[in-house]
Amino acid sequence: MSEKPEHFIVDGKRLDGRSVDELRPIKIELSPLDRADGSCYLEWGRNKIMAAVYGPRELHPRHRQNMTKAVVQYRYNMAAFSVDDRIRPGHSRRSIEISKVGRDAFEYVVFTKFFPKTAVDIFIEVLQADAGTRTAGINAASLALADAGIPMRGLVSACAVGKVDGEIVLDLMKEEDNFGEADVPIAMTAGGKITHLQMDGNLTKEEFYEALKLAKIGCDKVYKLQRQALIEKYNGEYAENGEDAMPQARIGDADE
Ligand code: CDP
Repeated sequence: MSEKPEHFIVDGKRLDGRSVDELRPIKIELSPLDRADGSCYLEWGRNKIMAAVYGPRELHPRHRQNMTKAVVQYRYNMAAFSVDDRIRPGHSRRSIEISKVGRDAFEYVVFTKFFPKTAVDIFIEVLQADAGTRTAGINAASLALADAGIPMRGLVSACAVGKVDGEIVLDLMKEEDNFGEADVPIAMTAGGKITHLQMDGNLTKEEFYEALKLAKIGCDKVYKLQRQALIEKYNGEYAENGEDAMPQARIGDADE
């Protein structure tokens, strides 16, 4: 693990040169996997994440089926080579927790009632980790679900906010995440409905509301990139296939 830096912000700039409200660069590639129903490869700073979605498909064993809705399953996994110290393969307390909160982030948006007895399986593989992998995973999963054509209320966009050197900052890098005063990963719909919120560290009530405001700004920026990636991929494909192939659903938020 790297050492705690003496200062996180010098002359208004963070350790990697960003301002307090700036995201790390994000790169999105849709459908990189041939065998998944939907997939997305996402880079966020030095994080490298692959998301694959399968389904809706019959859920086995059958006693786990829900007669009234689809079951959303989410598996977050870190590759052994994704961090400095090799990760032991298999589940850990951390991966079980992140898988649970990842699933919860999508329960509200996926129209599960359309597909009783089935499962929608979301797999997140962290190939390289550099803080913010749970939020990067949620962003990639959201796009992989859309790529698989799973009906949803809208995209989910996520980012972390936190506190370093007494200031609220957007999208924590590794040193800020590991040694900062607070880390708050958040996911929300484009309409601002929060589907995931965790908090590590301490914030006053005022700081918490300031952090929420900044998270909304961050999630809006992520949402625009996600939407842009979908439009670029599918507009191109539909233009080739003719107007009739255009989907009726709009990309956006159908919260109500
Ligand atoms: O990745 P995220 O910020 O969602 O989760 P975290 O538990 O706050 O972990 C922060 C970062 O610590 C990860 O992104 C990794 O870069 C690093 N980490 C690690 O090096 N070894 C682990 N076993 C877990 C996390």
